[in-house]
Amino acid sequence: MLFKLVLLILSAIAYGKQIPIPTRPEGYGIIGSPDANIIVEMYLDLLCDDCQASWPTIMSLVYYYDTRIQFLIHPFPFPYHTNSFLVNQGLHVVANVTEGAINLIKKYAQLALQHQSTWYNEATMNMTITEVIQSVANFIVNDVQVATVDRVMRLMQDKDINERTVISWKYACSRGVFSTPTFMVNGVYVSADPSWTLDNWRSVIDPLNPECPSVCPRLQMGSSTDDSRLSNLIHIHRQQAKELKGEDVVNEFCKDKRRIKVINE
Ligand SMILES: *[C@@H]1O[C@H](CO)[C@@H](O)[C@H](O)[C@H]1NC(C)=O
Ligand SMILES: *[C@@H]1O[C@H](CO)[C@@H](O)[C@H](O)[C@H]1NC(C)=O
Repeated sequence: MLFKLVLLILSAIAYGKQIPIPTRPEGYGIIGSPDANIIVEMYLDLLCDDCQASWPTIMSLVYYYDTRIQFLIHPFPFPYHTNSFLVNQGLHVVANVTEGAINLIKKYAQLALQHQSTWYNEATMNMTITEVIQSVANFIVNDVQVATVDRVMRLMQDKDINERTVISWKYACSRGVFSTPTFMVNGVYVSADPSWTLDNWRSVIDPLNPECPSVCPRLQMGSSTDDSRLSNLIHIHRQQAKELKGEDVVNEFCKDKRRIKVINE
């Protein structure tokens, strides 16, 4: 009996492998607000054509909800898209050289999706793996316009960045992801596909009431952010800001996606 128990424990140790715990929560929050109470996650393979097809609607979704949701992407390269691991590793490289600049991570994802056919299996049949890596590095330097080719080439072969790409892949596996794009809202699988429109998405998200109050005042008063969508920034005096009620902030500013900058003068 005891022997059986020991065997059982030993086999649990042997088979119940611990997935490496990432050093930060997985996924790149490429737009939206980290304070939002609705998190939309997209598991994507940058060489997957359905991901390419879904992207425009997903961008209209994130612009529509703006700071009322947080949007995260999880790169999930497929083995049968032979170069996918490298192109997805490029995302981690861009995150590294830009120290996590969300607009550049988004730019890489978006442009890589657009140019994905460059790295399809058939298109790269006669290339060596070094040539493919070089092509991803050139793309990062010329199209995304970050870093130098030397630096990107080094990072494309960096052990730690390779490990990060592996961990994010394993993480997606641990969430049961096996196809892309896979979407989750607050951690729950949503059966969205590339044919979904913004209205389809709204029918899922609107009933969850992604309202402003808990998010907007806290997030947007006090300081401006380096967000390129700040065109409708409004300056208000500190004293005025103190007198604003939560609902004024929601009605006057959040719904129109205006940003508030509090000033002293
Ligand atoms: C970028 O990668 C290098 C090499 O792994 C590492 O030393 C460095 O800390 C990383 N920087 C960031 C901002 O992640
Ligand atoms: C690869 O090389 C073969 C043989 O030279 C050629 O027929 C084919 O068109 C090449 N494919 C590409 C994508 O360049």
